[in-house]
Amino acid sequence: MNLGKKVIYQAYPRSFKDTSGNGIGDLEGIRQKADYFKKLGVDMVWINPFFVSPQNDNGYDIADYYHVDPLFGTDEELDKLIETFDEKGLGLMFDMVLNHTSTSHEWFQKALDGDEYYQDFYYIRDGKDGSYPNNWTSKFGGPAWNKFGDTDKYYLCLYDKTQADLNWHNKNVRKEVYKIVNYWIDKGIKGFRFDVLNVIGKSKDLKDSSGNIDEEKKLYTDTRIVHEWIEELNKNTFGKDEDIITVGEMSSTDVHNSALYSNPEGSELSMVFSFHHLKVDYKDGEKWTDASFDFKKLKGTLNYWQGEMQEHSGWNALFFNNHDQTRANTRFGDVDKYHYQTSTMLAQTIHLMRGTPFIYQGEEIGMTDPDYDSIGDYRDVESLNAYDALLAKGMSEDDALKIIKLKSRDNSRTPMQWNDSSNAGFSEETPWIRVNDNYKEINVKKALADKNSIFYYYKKLIEHRKEENLISDGLYFPILEDDENILAFVREYEGNVLVNFSNFTGKSLEVDLENMVDSYQEYEYLLGNYGRVEINKKINLRPYECLALIKRF
Ligand code: GLC
Repeated sequence: MNLGKKVIYQAYPRSFKDTSGNGIGDLEGIRQKADYFKKLGVDMVWINPFFVSPQNDNGYDIADYYHVDPLFGTDEELDKLIETFDEKGLGLMFDMVLNHTSTSHEWFQKALDGDEYYQDFYYIRDGKDGSYPNNWTSKFGGPAWNKFGDTDKYYLCLYDKTQADLNWHNKNVRKEVYKIVNYWIDKGIKGFRFDVLNVIGKSKDLKDSSGNIDEEKKLYTDTRIVHEWIEELNKNTFGKDEDIITVGEMSSTDVHNSALYSNPEGSELSMVFSFHHLKVDYKDGEKWTDASFDFKKLKGTLNYWQGEMQEHSGWNALFFNNHDQTRANTRFGDVDKYHYQTSTMLAQTIHLMRGTPFIYQGEEIGMTDPDYDSIGDYRDVESLNAYDALLAKGMSEDDALKIIKLKSRDNSRTPMQWNDSSNAGFSEETPWIRVNDNYKEINVKKALADKNSIFYYYKKLIEHRKEENLISDGLYFPILEDDENILAFVREYEGNVLVNFSNFTGKSLEVDLENMVDSYQEYEYLLGNYGRVEINKKINLRPYECLALIKRF
């Protein structure tokens, strides 16, 4: 399979399309939009977890891996979805959360009831010196431990306190995990996204960290045993079928490990999600701060990952948006003045790189962050914890809200904007989270009616990837590396060359083609968000312009 030819769409079920009238999107909503995905031209749709769950972390706290949560529909509706997608030639990618289960999961409940077999499924430890077993912190704030029932013990929870980390050292845990994945393979599922997979390898001794968060993460991230367990998972499950696509969500990973995770022998996964390119608006490494984004860091990180993964035969999942990130057009562009240009420029930058692009719902119509004015509009557990923590530090409510507004994961979780009717055509009932006020201007109906919309730009990008081996298989080389405003690169394949420029500013900038490529006269226009341009020695890049030129051998 050529992963470079694939494009994957991410549907966040909660916010995609509600057909049952409970204000929450559902599986039937995704099924009904099968033709929409076909029209866009994607190969596969990744659906975030819809399994039985108390929904403390919107489904990433799974209580039963085999059944659909009634919020999202029924098992029969899931079968129908699988069948429809199969008929239409669309793949499905399921989200496997295997680092932790919900504390409502039967295994955890049995452990609480004193069953030792299941107690060994988790990291349950005695406290130390009247406090927690170690000094680790949760990724959602506070200590990484919570009281185990009414005992003196604690269980490890690196995320929410209702998400208990599974003890992968226990062979029986790994067997259960294989059973889950194989169950869905047998149902015909051809794609798996593995949630935070590189933190499954905690060392058994769970020793204290120095207190430095980066050092602390190293104690449980990308450890050697993670590779062994992924290989084992591969051998026992998806490795049997070459048509299955897998992607590991790798938290705070590095290029070296990521190349191994996605090695060409195929002994681990097809590709990885890494996040360093999105940590470019953090002040001193801290997410919950008000900092503008550092373009050079963004560009340097993307170039570094492109170059190193190519060098070491790894494979990147390409993305700017997902359900955990604020909308990239709002974050890195100017959606007020250059909505179309910003949205398409960001898309082109990613889609012409080496890897497999992912499109997050709404991105293809240029959905933006909402303009919420009250903390009451927010739903996400991480954001609400962060808000409390900021207030506890003495910050005013207004300042804390400003930061939540910039960084909240809810920015991308607002309901999909289908049309200009009430609730943006997402639901007939009040949605679980407030619709973005701009749905009358930005919606699917409007985008489909206009041949020059962002939607059709994405469609063209996908078509080019399918047609041009340069894009799917070409080598990647950065150019203009020191430029403070433009991200530019070259792709090369069998003597053909593609060059792409992305202007990340609202200013017009000039580039000198002659200095950058050989025989610039031989280049032709391929694609740009200002339409066709004449190719001269000097090219003027307008605000947020992207431009791809191609030279055929
Ligand atoms: C991943 C998911 C995120 C979730 C976390 C814990 O990062 O993308 O939404 O909160 O894992 O499962």
